[in-house]
Amino acid sequence: MALPPEIRIAHDSHTWATAAAELVHSLGQEAIQANGQFLIALSGGTTPETLYRALASPAFTDRFDWSRTTFFFSDERCVPPDDSRSNYALANNTLFTPLNITPSQVCRMAGESRDPQAAAREYEQQLRRATNTSPSSSPTLDLVLLGLGEDGHTASLFPGSPALRDNKNLIAVTQSPKDPPTRLTMTLGVINRASVILFLVAGAGKAGVVRAILDPKTEAERQLPASLVAPEEGRLIWLLDRAAAAELPTDQQRISA
Ligand code: 6PG
Repeated sequence: MALPPEIRIAHDSHTWATAAAELVHSLGQEAIQANGQFLIALSGGTTPETLYRALASPAFTDRFDWSRTTFFFSDERCVPPDDSRSNYALANNTLFTPLNITPSQVCRMAGESRDPQAAAREYEQQLRRATNTSPSSSPTLDLVLLGLGEDGHTASLFPGSPALRDNKNLIAVTQSPKDPPTRLTMTLGVINRASVILFLVAGAGKAGVVRAILDPKTEAERQLPASLVAPEEGRLIWLLDRAAAAELPTDQQRISA
């Protein structure tokens, strides 16, 4: 039975970034205490970027030992790893380099591949190998970070994408309405098996889509990609700022630290 989403609302962008970094540290500590390692999947976007910069800031660098962490990607754009549009480039510049993360800790999707389908199959093998998952099973990550697009997309699962119905593959190739067009993405099967799924959403521009996902009024809203994110056994946490939460019913509005 899926748990109800935990909705945490920070007063402003600064408290949001602090709350996000503290939450990731806390979830990482729990994973390492329970399993001796922390398996986290990163997303792209300016909101996740705010978290990465907070984690690499002086206030947080000495508060967590990242040496037991393996980093995966929820999705990647099909561009080279040094392209400014690459989610790997974003994470490498704002998180891996400042925190001295070793390359062996990072499982990168080969966005540069000229054959995205082959890159998807290769990442599935990498994902299973790094999580010690058998070929017929789906891995359980400790934490999957997700952003939210104004159209209700998350990772690179866009409205109407056939990947939303893909219950065979762990990684799918999708087409995005935004540049760059071709993407690699975790499918809902992987995302929904995570122990914790954390949506990172901030800004007034997301208030409408946050309401559509958390307080849907129509079947179309219930079928948006982010609406289909529902952990099988894990926790679903939404970390919002007040602006992004502005259209939620007041009973869903709770201010976190
Ligand atoms: C990507 C992300 C995507 C992103 C959302 C939110 O590759 O772009 O995975 O899902 O998280 O579009 O992006 P913003 O936080 O920039 O609005």
